[in-house]
Amino acid sequence: MPTTEHALLVERAESLNEAELAELCEATDAAIIEGGGFGWLEPQGREALTRHFRGVLLVPACELFVARLDGVPVGSAQLIRPPRNNEAQAFAAQLTHAYIAPYARGHGLARLLVRRVEERAAALGHRVLNLDVRETQSTAIALFESLGYTRWGTHPAYARVKGRTTAGHYYYKLLEPPHGRTLDMRAGA
Ligand SMILES: CC(C)(COP(=O)(O)OP(=O)(O)OC[C@H]1O[C@@H](n2cnc3c(N)ncnc32)[C@H](O)[C@@H]1OP(=O)(O)O)[C@@H](O)C(=O)NCCC(=O)NCCS
Repeated sequence: MPTTEHALLVERAESLNEAELAELCEATDAAIIEGGGFGWLEPQGREALTRHFRGVLLVPACELFVARLDGVPVGSAQLIRPPRNNEAQAFAAQLTHAYIAPYARGHGLARLLVRRVEERAAALGHRVLNLDVRETQSTAIALFESLGYTRWGTHPAYARVKGRTTAGHYYYKLLEPPHGRTLDMRAGA
């Protein structure tokens, strides 16, 4: 476990003021420049990222979680819930776009971020959390595997980065319900 004298906080964001958005955009561009956490490969700038985050805050199926180091937004993740017409997969949700700015890494914020998303997904009634990650994101892979995610497949043509095709790994984790009986989620059960 990392030792830190910093204040670590992860919260579900329902709104963000201008200053918070500016800091989050800066963190996002810093993570993009360093190489990951978003589909973007080039920094987007404050205006485009502000539009992105404002849009995310408006989408009912999407929840934004913001990680703060000493109160300052330095990373985020999104919880994507299934559409209402997908009753058969209503038990599953997706964790996407998880990143911490390079200048705020190593304090345990990503671990906390993923845990908060898991807690929220479980509280909303989801029993499975899915995610996928480029095979080159070795820190993220170490994090997800240490948190109990099971790799169930690898897509050989998952992404194109700098003119090269990159594979990506697919993971899931069964979530414990906050109250009540654990469901048997094995196939056929
Ligand atoms: C992956 C990422 C979010 C980790 O952020 P972080 O805040 O530094 O992570 P934490 O401090 O919470 O560390 C969590 C775990 O990650 C792993 N980890 C962290 N830094 C590591 C490093 N330098 N080398 C190997 N593993 C590392 C460890 O398992 C660590 O747990 P431990 O310290 O308890 O052993 C960050 O590196 C990042 O944003 N990377 C680019 C984006 C990305 O890959 N996102 C995932 C795609 S969905």
